Amino acid sequence: MKRPIAILISGRGSNMQSLVRACQAADFPARVALVLSNNPDAAGLSWARDQGLEAVALERLTGETRADYDARLEQELQQRSIELVCLAGYMRLLSPDFTRRWDGKLLNIHPSLLPSFPGLDAQAQALRAGVRVTGCTVHFVDQGLDTGPIIDQGALHIEAGESLESMSARLLELEHQLYPKCLKQVAAQQVQLIDGKLIWR
Ligand code: GRF
Repeated sequence: MKRPIAILISGRGSNMQSLVRACQAADFPARVALVLSNNPDAAGLSWARDQGLEAVALERLTGETRADYDARLEQELQQRSIELVCLAGYMRLLSPDFTRRWDGKLLNIHPSLLPSFPGLDAQAQALRAGVRVTGCTVHFVDQGLDTGPIIDQGALHIEAGESLESMSARLLELEHQLYPKCLKQVAAQQVQLIDGKLIWR
């Protein structure tokens, strides 16, 4: 039985595409029931619509609080009986109520080896720091910024003198492999978050 998932995006949605493609395999334990973007102009939204997926733009209303926006987001998820939520370049902070409600069911991908280089421009942060190995991390989301329990990571060796563009492109390919693998493990309950700890089966 495929579990219904939502993917939240704000931009191009290449990680969303990799998740959608993975979900198309007959034996994959999840199906994409919703793609949602806070940004109506997100390129990923039109790609998802072209695939025949349900793709919703949920714009913040003028003066709306984060809690009120997230309550509308919650409704969208409830309406489709969503069981897992994957953040894929979703650029809005989530309210504590929302992250608590989705504890252990909310995943994110970040383009660094967390806990190094959380926050924006992680690839540039890594280059600036001069590290020779960076990577990407899929983790459960908690109330912090890129701080939740780590599900898995992929490592990338930075070539001498490599440009930000080249490194970011190679890293993105790694992200596209790692995220579907982690979603599969979570959807199949091979890994679960219990009392803040990862339990592998
Ligand atoms: C990716 O680098 C992801 O790790 C980060 O935001 C970027 C989104 O890219 N959270 P895309 O929209 O999936 O192409």
